[in-house]
Amino acid sequence: MYDEIDLDKIDRNAEPPTEEPARQYYFMAKCREWVKDFTQKQGRSPRACVVNMGCQMNARDAEKLTGILSRIGYEMTDTEEADFVLYNTCTVRENANNKVYGRLGVLNGYQKKNPRMMIALCGCMMQEASVVEKIRRSYPFVNLIFGTHNLYKFAELLHTALFHANASGAPKGASSMVIDIWEDTDQIVEALPAKRKYAFKSGVNIMFGCNNFCSYCIVPYVRGRERSREPEEILREIRMLANDGVVEVMLLGQNVNSYGKGLKQPVTFAQLLQKIEAVEGISRIRFMTSHPKDLSDELIETMRRSKKICKHLHLPLQSGSTEILRRMNRKYTKEQYLLLIEKLRAAMPDISITTDIIVGFPGETEADFEETLDMVRRVQYDSAFTFLYSRRTGTPAAAMEEQVPEDVAKHRFDRLLSKVQTIAARKAMRYTGSVQSVLVEQVNTQDAALVTGRMDNNSIVHLRGGADRIGTIVDVRLTECRGFYYIGEVV
Ligand code: 5AD
Ligand code: SF4
Repeated sequence: MYDEIDLDKIDRNAEPPTEEPARQYYFMAKCREWVKDFTQKQGRSPRACVVNMGCQMNARDAEKLTGILSRIGYEMTDTEEADFVLYNTCTVRENANNKVYGRLGVLNGYQKKNPRMMIALCGCMMQEASVVEKIRRSYPFVNLIFGTHNLYKFAELLHTALFHANASGAPKGASSMVIDIWEDTDQIVEALPAKRKYAFKSGVNIMFGCNNFCSYCIVPYVRGRERSREPEEILREIRMLANDGVVEVMLLGQNVNSYGKGLKQPVTFAQLLQKIEAVEGISRIRFMTSHPKDLSDELIETMRRSKKICKHLHLPLQSGSTEILRRMNRKYTKEQYLLLIEKLRAAMPDISITTDIIVGFPGETEADFEETLDMVRRVQYDSAFTFLYSRRTGTPAAAMEEQVPEDVAKHRFDRLLSKVQTIAARKAMRYTGSVQSVLVEQVNTQDAALVTGRMDNNSIVHLRGGADRIGTIVDVRLTECRGFYYIGEVV
């Protein structure tokens, strides 16, 4: 119902409503007034650029932020020389933070050329008090900072920042930096606008936060406690997406397998999947991320039976050594993980399995690392994201003794990467000659006579065809495998 709200019909002189999301629509209407004024004075709409730096969760958040900016009347652009630039940051690894500080210097240069430019920062990195303090001290030209818990308040915060600006639209400087960070919240605000990157597929948040406290990970501190959306709200959103032409949904959560635990009427993740499966128009369902400790037999059975749930599972291993897993607080052993893989493959022989692995966790010995290599050999992952351990202040692992020297970790990382790639390349070839269903996603960036799509297991396929195929699912014979992608033809 909120999607039809006409911002121009909202009484902007009334007191702001206290309930959500009505309050945010009120502030969108106020910001829209500002945008109209800008447009009149400058002879053009203000331009906004949202830069996403993180995971799929962040990408979905960026779509919500873009949705709000578009409703207000900003013209969206990819160039950072815009009137409003918003970085949606990530902080899982330290080098992500350093990248943001580097970019801020560049943005400052743009702002000097365009004094009307506003710079805003949000996302996980802003949930760290030390970061906000550093920005306040060293980057006073930033105009707005908010975190992950109050993202739904973006319209209201933007309104404050805009009206801090002086008459010509230029921000007033350091004294006007608007900072609003919440420690945590239980609140989930539904029905705010979002602007999808793709017309035919969409991420859907099913839960927020994480309760696992893996000892290396900063996510539980910056994204807060785990909270699930009501199944009815999720279904309502997915039905709306299907009506709007979406055929593939990616269900998002830090640990989707523990979905539904805190709800008034608890629901399991498998039960949620079954309900989503019944939504007409949705042909593919994906989800991430799964924690091995919570992966149930019920879920494996639901996946096996389903025609819509993609036979792909992202199942982070993190380490192959049971001792390191214990120190990571992962709550499973190497043997338990292997048993899960066995069950998955027994139920779905062709399932594609991908993973995350961290190298150089404190105390990791050469023997521990060999166990990780051994697991990679035994599981035969279709692909793996490999990470060098990054020491995140505030996490238990950061205080552990026996930090692994950088050169040792780097050497192990290279060995792991090469093993992962060899196996992945060999595994990729197994589909050559077969017919697979492919969701066509875009015109090929290098050759306009080709389109590019994804198989059920997420592998990329290039095939002959035009833009009219985008968003459709076609049967494709895979004629050739070139490393990590296929060439195919429609059958
Ligand atoms: N150092 C390195 N990698 C990390 N990850 C999370 N925290 C860290 C860290 N401190 C990795 C994990 C997780 C992925 C999203 O990022 O492998 O699954
Ligand atoms: Fe971090 Fe572990 Fe939660 Fe994943 S499950 S977000 S690695 S604490």
